[in-house]
Amino acid sequence: MSEDNRLSVVALISGGGSNLQALIDAQAAGLPIRIVAVISNRADAPGLDRARHHGIPAEILSHRDYPDRETYDADLQRLIDRHDPGLVVLAGFMRILTPEFVNHYRGRMFNIHPSLLPKFRGLHTHQRALDADETEHGASVHFVTAELDGGPIILQARVPVLPEDDAATLAARVLEQEHRIYPAAVGWFAEGRLKLGEDGRPWLDGEPMPEP
Ligand code: GAR
Repeated sequence: MSEDNRLSVVALISGGGSNLQALIDAQAAGLPIRIVAVISNRADAPGLDRARHHGIPAEILSHRDYPDRETYDADLQRLIDRHDPGLVVLAGFMRILTPEFVNHYRGRMFNIHPSLLPKFRGLHTHQRALDADETEHGASVHFVTAELDGGPIILQARVPVLPEDDAATLAARVLEQEHRIYPAAVGWFAEGRLKLGEDGRPWLDGEPMPEP
């Protein structure tokens, strides 16, 4: 039997899990990853069914059962580390994380955010882009640091904002790109091509990546 050298990945979700699905599909198509667990803070997250459907352990850790962020994140860390992942991917995990949690996964946790960071951190990014009369919008994959939606950017995708757009049509256009760039960035990491450098910047193929 050949050894499984694929990168083991734990995905954290809160909702629909379409980015999780993109990673599951990429794994099936040969991306050298093995999604070993999906964890949701919400029992009703539809993404849990996507995991179950593909035979991936789906676990629920409800934040409602915890008095504060610190104790929740400490248990979440324990749950994740049971799977000993090489990478943690936040795939629509809608929680602010404690610095202790973030530091524990420094250089091995990614997030995807639906805006061209540093623009529009936080929520309602599509409506805010429309309200700001942006002509361009998009999504960013970044290493997670203690700053909310603020870590070093690995990859961005841009889409036009069309005159007839509302938040839903714009979100759909952006999401399509998310499904492209998240597996691409995870693939670079899985192949050992991408690292968070000592200088705090992402390095690809031995070179610091240019600022987007
Ligand atoms: C995605 O658009 C993702 O970028 C966003 O939540 C959505 C999850 O969709 N994440 C954030 O806003 C994090 N700050 P999905 O559950 O279908 O992947």
